[in-house]
Amino acid sequence: MSAKFEISFAKSARIEGATAVLLKASDGEAPAGAAVADPAGVFAKAAKVARFTAKPMSVLDIVAPQGADADRIFVLGLGKAADMTAHDWLRAGGVAASKIGKSESVVVFLDAPGLDVQSAQAADFALGLLLRAYSFDTYKTKKGEDDDKAKASTVRVTIVTADSSAAQKAFAVARAVADGVNLARDLVNEPANILGPEEFAAKAKELEKLGVDVEILTEKEMRKLGMGALLGVAQGSVRPPRLVVMHWKGAKKEQPVAFVGKGVVFDTGGISIKPAAGMEEMKGDMGGAAAVTGLMHVLAARKAKVNAIGIIGLVENMPDGNAQRPGDIVTSMSGQTIEVINTDAEGRLVLCDALWYCNERFKPKFMINLATLTGAIIVALGNTHAGLFTNSDSLAGELTEAGLATDETLWRMPLGKEYDKMIDSKFADMKNTGGRHAGAITAAQFLKRFVGETPWAHLDVAGTAMSSPSNEINQSWGSGFGVRLLDQLVRARYEV
Ligand code: BES
Ligand code: MN
Ligand code: ZN
Repeated sequence: MSAKFEISFAKSARIEGATAVLLKASDGEAPAGAAVADPAGVFAKAAKVARFTAKPMSVLDIVAPQGADADRIFVLGLGKAADMTAHDWLRAGGVAASKIGKSESVVVFLDAPGLDVQSAQAADFALGLLLRAYSFDTYKTKKGEDDDKAKASTVRVTIVTADSSAAQKAFAVARAVADGVNLARDLVNEPANILGPEEFAAKAKELEKLGVDVEILTEKEMRKLGMGALLGVAQGSVRPPRLVVMHWKGAKKEQPVAFVGKGVVFDTGGISIKPAAGMEEMKGDMGGAAAVTGLMHVLAARKAKVNAIGIIGLVENMPDGNAQRPGDIVTSMSGQTIEVINTDAEGRLVLCDALWYCNERFKPKFMINLATLTGAIIVALGNTHAGLFTNSDSLAGELTEAGLATDETLWRMPLGKEYDKMIDSKFADMKNTGGRHAGAITAAQFLKRFVGETPWAHLDVAGTAMSSPSNEINQSWGSGFGVRLLDQLVRARYEV
């Protein structure tokens, strides 16, 4: 942590010796809190000198302002008040966090003239602060003085806004979201020697503290269930696989909604081994499982009124003497047989058993799976949209909308008979790759064979869960993508 924020809300605050952050809309006459923080009116001159016009996410830094009690004033530009979206409030919090990290005490004035700041906006601003403040430095032993990643210091942030008690209440929810996203980031960033299937399962087990029921299925239990596809992937590793079932019963009688995650703690490719260059990134091949775990954390921590299942398939894909070979035929829990053409197409083998199990046992309203499934989706969409594949137009609409609301955006990709044919096998019911063409789609077609008639969506997050460009609210390699998206989906559509 470069900075740890202790956030509270108040109607007013002392600013002696503090850093003051004043929000300003480009079409509002003055910055928020100007009368208190800038009684001598140094802002007008400073803005003129610096040609500061409050463009979106621009910052004017006034050090040791004359005639003011604050040590420093940051004026944060927001652009036109009417153009501010929910996501812009997160970004504003993120930009503020990037500036105030070294102060000890910070006072933020939110209520800029022209802006109608409600508790939701105040909470979003605070969420932006917390998401931007995240950094993964567990293994940095030398924490230099002027290094940006200097040792964790606590920054007290008081956010001044008219309805501070409502904001404080809304912040409890924002805190739950931040903790869930940051948990997912931690899981993705953690190296595979530290986080194997058992260690990941133990992390998921910690959700019991929040009231989530957590079951951990062992190899033996999975064998009994007939999960031959998942077990085939795991057999090349000395570390045994786990299947974790998390159940948040926030609305008991409702048919559950279900989230399923690919949790390949490391993907060497297996016998179809990957090239050395960049292979270290495959420690993040459990980004789907991390998002599901982070989401379950959020739902429980904010006591969401929803009946939600989270299932993650945890394996390591390694090439030892017992590893499966290309040409091997495995039998999935569904009874369908699979010819393993390429042992590097392992994610679908893990997910097919997890999806089938989820559907059989819980008969959910829908299943949404997240997986860092294919390099092909990165070729198609880059790092800015995750691929969305679904058998349900209504789920497509709801997910796309949640994506726009959270800026965790999705782009719908096609499914169809012609693509499905590409994975028919000479020797078994199907094969696990369909060749180079349409690689992300044939992977989705494979999963579709294991979901029956249940509304289902597959999010291919290979380009978005890890190694995506940093932005105002994320500087972490593991982004936590999917947590806010699915929390938003639940909030908007599935709470009683
Ligand atoms: N985990 C990878 C996909 C991946 C690639 C995730 C890059 C994140 C970044 C997956 O298991 C994989 O290896 N997919 C293969 C499938 C192919 C063998 C059909 C791929 O995409 O090349
Ligand atoms: Mn692979
Ligand atoms: Zn993989």
